[in-house]
Amino acid sequence: MEKIVVFTGAGVSAESGLKTFRDMGGLWGEYAIEDVASPAGWKRNPAVVLDFYNERRKAVLAARPNAAHEAIARLEEQFDVVVVTQNVDDLHERAGSSKIIHVHGEILKARSSIDASLVHVLDKPTIELGELCGKGSQLRPDIVWFGENVRHMDECAEHFAEASRVITIGTSLTVYPAAGLVEKAPWRAEKYLVSPEPQEIPYGFKFLRGAAATVVPHVVKCWLEGRKPV
Ligand code: OAD
Repeated sequence: MEKIVVFTGAGVSAESGLKTFRDMGGLWGEYAIEDVASPAGWKRNPAVVLDFYNERRKAVLAARPNAAHEAIARLEEQFDVVVVTQNVDDLHERAGSSKIIHVHGEILKARSSIDASLVHVLDKPTIELGELCGKGSQLRPDIVWFGENVRHMDECAEHFAEASRVITIGTSLTVYPAAGLVEKAPWRAEKYLVSPEPQEIPYGFKFLRGAAATVVPHVVKCWLEGRKPV
């Protein structure tokens, strides 16, 4: 089966009502990265960090997958699909995709702040100050902060290198090393980038301008019908 890598960022979930980071009205306009998404911020004021992710988690739980997530799941009818996502939400899972790699962690999981291998799925929307892991340290969101190791990079690089088609959706491609994965795609692969705003397009990618929930179902329909989307 032909392999497709779908590489997603916050923009794929925008039409599900989840804020992106760097657009107008995005999260990094409202909050300082160093306060809420860094080990130093956590050390300084864990309550602020927990509050930030508790809010995000509630928004994720209230959101539903949109037409883009659903179309991506349909690709599995004919292709070997790997979804590599920078998103911490579970909308690809709920839409039905079966192979999803979260390189920046998952908001519905908590982990120990002293042992990264102690991870569990949360059974409630919040993590509170004073909630401890089995080893007695404060629980934190299982999310990769700036300065921490991005996950599964070698495995993702292999998937990109084996892909005959790659579609990148809703990411500014500004956060490395994740953004660098697009460079692992073979030169002969069919490659697209979907975004409503003009942005720098990686070499060899074609720009499909528009919102994910409109453009992605079109691309998927074409691919399932054996046509090129443009
Ligand atoms: P950004 O906020 O940097 O970029 C979002 C992208 O989505 C932009 O290119 C938008 O133009 C595009 N976009 C907005 N609405 C869209 C829509 N309806 N359809 C398609 N595209 C749309 O988000 P990311 O690139 O995901 O990391 O950010 C990367 C990382 O930075 C995140 O994973 C997060 C953040 O800091 C961590 O928290 C570790």
